[in-house]
Amino acid sequence: MSGRPADGTAPQYPTPKGVFCETVTYVKHYTERLFAFRITRPTSFRFRSGEFVMIGLPNAERPIYRAYSIACPNWDEELEFYSIKVPDGPLTQHLQKIIVGDRILMRPKPTGTLVNDALLAGQRLWLFATGTGIAPFASILRDPETYEKFSTVILTHTCREVAELQYGAELVAMTSADPLVGEEAASALKYVATTTQESSALMGRITDLLQDGTVMTMLDLPALDPSQDRCMICGSMGFLQDIKAILDKAGFTEGSNSAPGDYVIERAFVG
Ligand code: A2P
Repeated sequence: MSGRPADGTAPQYPTPKGVFCETVTYVKHYTERLFAFRITRPTSFRFRSGEFVMIGLPNAERPIYRAYSIACPNWDEELEFYSIKVPDGPLTQHLQKIIVGDRILMRPKPTGTLVNDALLAGQRLWLFATGTGIAPFASILRDPETYEKFSTVILTHTCREVAELQYGAELVAMTSADPLVGEEAASALKYVATTTQESSALMGRITDLLQDGTVMTMLDLPALDPSQDRCMICGSMGFLQDIKAILDKAGFTEGSNSAPGDYVIERAFVG
């Protein structure tokens, strides 16, 4: 049950104290499992590119909140999110039905480890994503600080099917056309899109394509090296574990906000 009344507006419950109640400005459905939406940005709301917030719907006395990475840079006038649709998911079964004009609840404190501050200086930044794990990188990729800190930025995105790569392909095109970072991205940004369950230009899990050397050959880059490479990782739990194992074996150390390192993982968000 979506809980949407006949007049098309979301049901109204009082906004919980200390929570923002924002308006949906844009919704785009990519596949039966994926959609993106944008909401108005509270004027007082600040975040660092790559952070997440807790999102809910005003459809209950006690709303259910889930962690959502902010999928736009910190200078954006609105806030974007990229979500899976889970048929019986406590939040997404309702969230997937939102339309422009609906209300979204957002807790005021952004947080997260996929931020430039949690990484030591380096040459290359790898952004490893599966599925909706690409969302925080939609923020990082369009932040000028990313290109000030790294001379090469590599976005990898692994999905089951080709249609699931569309959000990332649009993001890369948008980044290249961006007035703030487009020029830097034209020379710095590399994009590796792979599918695992439908044939495409590059098939296979990124973990396998890294280990067998396919990615390095394709991009003409040396093997992963903790003195040069920095990494951010976001995606399913198994993926986080497998990439972490590859990096640990290569001598990388995990970083955090309080102790910057060679790579960071977002564990709060598993999608
Ligand atoms: P696969 O199809 O081989 O499982 P999901 O939609 O299940 O979150 O998966 C998104 C993408 O992440 C799929 O292409 C999936 O590949 C891939 N994937 C899942 N687990 C891992 C892992 N441990 N390492 C690398 N890729 C993974």
